[in-house]
Amino acid sequence: AIDPVRGITNLSTGKMGYAVARAAYEAGAQVTLISGPVSLPCPPGVRRIDVCSALQMHAAVHREVAASDVFVAVAAVADYRPAQVSREKIKKGARSAPPTIELTQNPDILAEIAALPEAPLCVGFAAESENLRDYAQSKRRSKKIPLIAGNLIQDGFGGDDNTLILFDDDGELPLAQAPKLQLARQLVMRIAVLLAKAREATGT
Ligand code: C5P
Repeated sequence: AIDPVRGITNLSTGKMGYAVARAAYEAGAQVTLISGPVSLPCPPGVRRIDVCSALQMHAAVHREVAASDVFVAVAAVADYRPAQVSREKIKKGARSAPPTIELTQNPDILAEIAALPEAPLCVGFAAESENLRDYAQSKRRSKKIPLIAGNLIQDGFGGDDNTLILFDDDGELPLAQAPKLQLARQLVMRIAVLLAKAREATGT
């Protein structure tokens, strides 16, 4: 929020996240969907927690994470928020210059969760406008997560279809253009493999 009527947001629709929630539920998972304000129906069987800001999403994820085996960070969380939220609507007034909005950094929810001592298996997303491979891989390394799903914004943002590349320790797995639900099902299958491997490695 900037003031009670205005805010900073982005063009993400949430469709990919909702598809992942639905695919995970269909695969047998108990799913909690922590969602920003989007106009999509909650998939059947999925428990949804509504949030309105990056800080609320951060708090909700921290509350839920201990009970989770897998954390999929699909939301296009804002990197920055206004440092001050005006309690009253900012008026145009007779000022000569437009107001300046100072921004401050939001916590990186995914990086924080991945760094927890009892971290769930963490999966990230990277939506890029260029250099998808380099940016997705460097995000995977810097956030220290085993799997990241990358897409070019021109292939997926806002639409019903997407084209994904999955990056993990075994390399790259390109998933051809398809409806988001179909890609989400392929992603969930990959997550199941990694979860089984992680459990084998830790004997849990
Ligand atoms: O914004 P960025 O491109 O770094 O997003 C990459 C991944 O990090 C996504 O999975 C996104 O959900 C997650 N993220 C997050 N908290 C933020 C920003 C991004 O969890 N503040």
